[in-house]
Amino acid sequence: MITFEGVTKRYDDGTVAVDDLSLEAPTGAITVFVGPSGCGKTTSLRMINRMIDATGGRILLDGQDVRQIDPPTLRRGIGYVIQQAGLFPHRKIVDNVATVPYLLGWDKKRARARAMELLERVGLDAALARRYPFQLSGGQQQRVGVARALAADPPVLLMDEPFSAVDPVVRTSLQDELLRLQSDLQKTIVFVTHDIDEAIKLGDTVAVMRVGGRLAQMAGPATLLTEPADDFVREFLGRDRGIRRLSFIPAKDIRLAAVPADLALDASGRPLGWRTTGGLLPYGTFNPERDSLRAALDAALLAVNGTAVAVDEDGRVIGVATREALDEVLGQYAARHTTPAPGSPRPEEAHGTSAAAAPGSAPEVPAEASGPDGHAPPDPGPGDHTDGEGPRG
Ligand SMILES: Nc1ncnc2c1ncn2[C@@H]1O[C@H](COP(=O)(O)OP(=O)(O)O)[C@@H](O)[C@H]1O
Ligand SMILES: [Mg+2]
Repeated sequence: MITFEGVTKRYDDGTVAVDDLSLEAPTGAITVFVGPSGCGKTTSLRMINRMIDATGGRILLDGQDVRQIDPPTLRRGIGYVIQQAGLFPHRKIVDNVATVPYLLGWDKKRARARAMELLERVGLDAALARRYPFQLSGGQQQRVGVARALAADPPVLLMDEPFSAVDPVVRTSLQDELLRLQSDLQKTIVFVTHDIDEAIKLGDTVAVMRVGGRLAQMAGPATLLTEPADDFVREFLGRDRGIRRLSFIPAKDIRLAAVPADLALDASGRPLGWRTTGGLLPYGTFNPERDSLRAALDAALLAVNGTAVAVDEDGRVIGVATREALDEVLGQYAARHTTPAPGSPRPEEAHGTSAAAAPGSAPEVPAEASGPDGHAPPDPGPGDHTDGEGPRG
């Protein structure tokens, strides 16, 4: 666990980049720092591995003040990934990945074997190992950057806008890859981005920062979408918060009905279309085991009859979700997440998770108390979905 206790960074020219920041980044989870350019994200991140030293407060790594650990020792346990990957241009990919093992004195054979294993882990072909960085695409270089950071198997990974410089399609696949890796590796990851959608997709917890290095809100992504602490966070989150929230509700609770006769299937049980007198009409599918309610709803909207087709991993139809079935789940969801009107009392107060409302701004709904103290919010009812669980994206 990484703990920020009242951390402040004032640069020599008087710029206060980070102001009294207190938060916890739990072990084995992805904590995202998100906010506009210049809000102090990079400064905050670099204070963890002491590339920058704080001017006030403390940062603890599993309870130990990082100031008491000498930087080389500290950094051995902390992988670091930056934008543009930051690879050594004159070194082959395999040797780039093996950088830290070499520094740790591993023999060349073992270091290279480890590098090859990691290249595979991040989804790169072994043939790329002998190339130089300039011979790789931006997305491939970023994967190498992640592999290099993982080489010595550090418990902590710091990632500073690692996917910001690649195109949206590659970025999506890098994000998916990171989530897949993380489900295997369970590193303690602090991930910095200015992209709120990336934050919501990747974060178990999301810390929204505002310029001046102030924490605006810290919450799970689903809570953030439903209950932004103030106008700044609400505007930063952008549109369609309700629909985006559906991404965090698993589709597995949707009641499936038997496959109706008007759904045409091929010989192996995969859907062909909705039968009508005029021929087959479009359909949409979702996988109840893997997808979210958002995906199910999307599938329903693709069909003229409003019915979503549920499929298994192989694309075979296992049932259908009618509009009524979707409505049931949506109804439960809406009822569970009714938020009191602004200003009305809440059962639990936020603990320093939201900055004071700006003068003249609307009355603030207190941030849910899933902040630095780590308390979960009161359970609104049976079967509620905890933030960070369930499908993402
Ligand atoms: N070495 C420095 N000296 C003075 N000011 C700095 C220095 N590095 C960053 N800053 C300032 O600190 C603030 C936060 O910077 P940074 O942490 O890089 O923000 P972000 O990563 O969120 O864009 C900005 O106003 C930036 O100009
Ligand atoms: Mg930055």
